[in-house]
Amino acid sequence: MELEKVINERYSVRKFSEQEILQSDLNKILEAGRIAPTACNFQPQRIFVIKSKEAKEKLKSICRMTFDAPVILLSCADMTKSWKNKREEGYDSAEMDVSIVGTQMMLEAWNLGIGSCWVRAFNSNDVKEVLELPENIKPIFLMPIGYMTDESIPNKELHYTRNKMEDMVKYI
Ligand SMILES: Cc1cc2nc3c(=O)[nH]c(=O)nc-3n(C[C@H](O)[C@H](O)[C@H](O)COP(=O)(O)O)c2cc1C
Repeated sequence: MELEKVINERYSVRKFSEQEILQSDLNKILEAGRIAPTACNFQPQRIFVIKSKEAKEKLKSICRMTFDAPVILLSCADMTKSWKNKREEGYDSAEMDVSIVGTQMMLEAWNLGIGSCWVRAFNSNDVKEVLELPENIKPIFLMPIGYMTDESIPNKELHYTRNKMEDMVKYI
């Protein structure tokens, strides 16, 4: 699919087919995340592929929005690897890096006919606790993914509401 078509047609999917995701498709999605640009190429992204019933239940206990997806990508940053800006105290590129990774994975998923939803409605400490993640690993977002069915429709209010170009852009 052309990139422009993917960008224009993608929407957040919150209802998935129960069909398992082909490993070849999953590999392509993860590869899109692996090769994403990151600050200084430090590559802090760490992706946990949540497939087991047990791990899904653990996530479901602390986040309502896993949407019974066949796979959930828990996208994290290794905070010991991310770029810190010496010119700006406290600035850390971890969230930005992992968000670019997520965007690439989301678009590649759509390209393969796989829907996704970016989810941040959780407390990262809860995720760390239930999945027993190491101290240096910070959960950034969850991404339930799966093949689509007739019920995988966009949320009309959210998806079709966008600011006008002039509200977003200012040439200076
Ligand atoms: C940072 C971020 C956090 C989000 N968190 C959630 C979430 O917790 N639950 C949810 O259902 N959608 C979540 N979304 C999806 C947005 O609601 C959605 O992208 C937006 O409403 C536009 O709709 P569209 O993606 O269908 O075009 C999130 C999106 C982003 C970028």
